[in-house]
Amino acid sequence: MLLVKGKVKSVYKPGNEPKSVFIEYHDKITAGNGEKEDYPVGKGSLCCQISSILFDKLEEFGIKTHYIRQIGPNKMLCKELDILPLEVIVRNRAAGSIVKTTTIQEGQPIIPAIVEFFLKDDSKQDPLLTRDRVKLMGIDPMPLVEQASNINEYLLNIFNLIGFDLIDFKIEFGVDAHGELYLADEISPDSMRLWDKNTQSKYDKDLFRNDEGDIVPAYRTILSKLQSTFI
Ligand code: TYD
Repeated sequence: MLLVKGKVKSVYKPGNEPKSVFIEYHDKITAGNGEKEDYPVGKGSLCCQISSILFDKLEEFGIKTHYIRQIGPNKMLCKELDILPLEVIVRNRAAGSIVKTTTIQEGQPIIPAIVEFFLKDDSKQDPLLTRDRVKLMGIDPMPLVEQASNINEYLLNIFNLIGFDLIDFKIEFGVDAHGELYLADEISPDSMRLWDKNTQSKYDKDLFRNDEGDIVPAYRTILSKLQSTFI
């Protein structure tokens, strides 16, 4: 049964697995709130496999994630959660919206990294939230900041080992019936910025956003480097 049809993924409720969902990653990419889209062959399975490896590694480091196991090239079984209506963004260097909306220059290091909250609501154009507003929405931002900062440290190390600078990334969280917090959604080059350490060339969705190249070979490079280093 289809539960949610997102822009690039669908969430289904399997008949035989209580408290779980399966998430299907489509061969689809969108940008600018869905204004721009394309259907790159193989992209769904690349993002699913990259996410699976990263969720597995984060679990090894003690981060609670919704990931259970991969059940097909572009499908993963996950815990069923209530997803918080927040996009949590961690920035190690300035790029994207922080450059567009401030005086900060692209590429400027952000030390220590910052954690920002955006409302997850396309109809309201996903505005930047203050921590006070997050509290007023009934969500304590502090455990999210702490988890996001820990996740950042692990991801920085993982990508450093395969030769990439992790510029920024977006994550989402969900809670189970006991109020326990889990990392949810996906972690892939669709939701992060990755620059080659030597050349500073892009290996992420900016290639598509800015018409700067084909994402499939870039995502394939990330996957094969993760596989050869961590599997
Ligand atoms: P940000 O710079 O705030 O926005 P944009 O990508 O529109 O310039 O994004 C920071 C990081 O979070 C970047 O790696 C893209 C990712 N992200 C998403 O995956 N989904 C989103 O809806 C947003 C706003 C960002």
